[in-house]
Amino acid sequence: MRIMSVVGARPQFVKLAPIAKAARAADQEHIIVHTGQHYDPMLSDVFFRDLEIPAPDAHLGVGSGSHGVQTGAILAQMDGVLERFKPDAVLVYGDTNSTLAAAVSATKLHFPVAHLEAGLRSFNREMPEEHNRVLTDHAADLCLAPTEVAMGHLAAEGLATRSVLVGDVMTDVLFQVRDAITRQDAVHPLAGEAEPGNYYLATIHRAENTDAPERLRQIVDALAAADRPVFLLAHPRVRAKAAEHGIPLEAGALRARDPLAYPELIAAARTSAGIVTDSGGLQKEAFLLRVPGTTVRRETEWVETVELGWNVLANTAEEIAAALTRPTPAPTDAAPYGDGHAATRAVDAIISAFD
Ligand code: UD1
Repeated sequence: MRIMSVVGARPQFVKLAPIAKAARAADQEHIIVHTGQHYDPMLSDVFFRDLEIPAPDAHLGVGSGSHGVQTGAILAQMDGVLERFKPDAVLVYGDTNSTLAAAVSATKLHFPVAHLEAGLRSFNREMPEEHNRVLTDHAADLCLAPTEVAMGHLAAEGLATRSVLVGDVMTDVLFQVRDAITRQDAVHPLAGEAEPGNYYLATIHRAENTDAPERLRQIVDALAAADRPVFLLAHPRVRAKAAEHGIPLEAGALRARDPLAYPELIAAARTSAGIVTDSGGLQKEAFLLRVPGTTVRRETEWVETVELGWNVLANTAEEIAAALTRPTPAPTDAAPYGDGHAATRAVDAIISAFD
């Protein structure tokens, strides 16, 4: 069968890598459409290169814009792309504007839609990602859930009969990359700047943390006051907002660096003393690497990381300082995100639903 993956933003490229491999292994034709939501090389090209993802078959080049403009630009072009490739199934990933736009266009043209990473909920209706995931799950014909908790949310919304638990595909990639780094003994991306075990790694990019100057300033001040150096891998959004509001990203313990490619990110994460982030992916990667995580948000979709003690939600300067200096969490063998073979299960579920 012909499966079309539509991706556009950094975390989707990570999820695409194991799916592309699994589709190839299952001998299925796989078309890749890149919407162009992320266009900086460090947010896009390096993932295709390092994770050996085939080049996209179509690139929509939509770029940045307000939610309506960005989502609408993808929608306007997807009709033509779908007519051109006539896929047997369209696979959309996660919760970005690219996800929603692809799901809506495919649904309207009666192409079957599968949603990978279905059923995640923050229950925060102000987050653009929450709108995108709720609407996409309800548009999709097949909801591929990463966790039991996500399956529960789908059931609660009446979507149980179209939902399948496959596990988390980011776990697939993380395990492969972690093992490759260990084998290769690669040069540490912060070599010469950071002492293993004695620095924190940070990423902050969400609208709720970057758009209001007082909120961004509060987070920057908290990181600047940390007890060890903090390397902030600065997404273009946080750089742009900090510049606009005159907030320096080099202050006290805080050092701003460019985003890292995926293998370098994992290498930097695994030897850090802790990770401070508002990214969904990195929260989970911290847990899987058994590095203490601090999440700068009021809620998380990955509740297992908090329940198991490896992740703490922290918002004020005091909460962030307390989370960073807390004792190492208790060891655990729990594997709520699967066994590293989620992509194979996802492709199998797509074949059995639509072939
Ligand atoms: C998007 C997703 C978010 C995901 C994140 C991963 C939505 C609503 N949000 O957020 O869920 O966690 O990707 O990174 O889809 N920019 C650049 N270069 C780029 C891309 C963006 O400079 O290649 C800047 C632009 O100023 C743009 C801003 O970042 O306006 C926001 O980009 P956008 O793609 O809209 O959202 P993200 O914050 O990246």
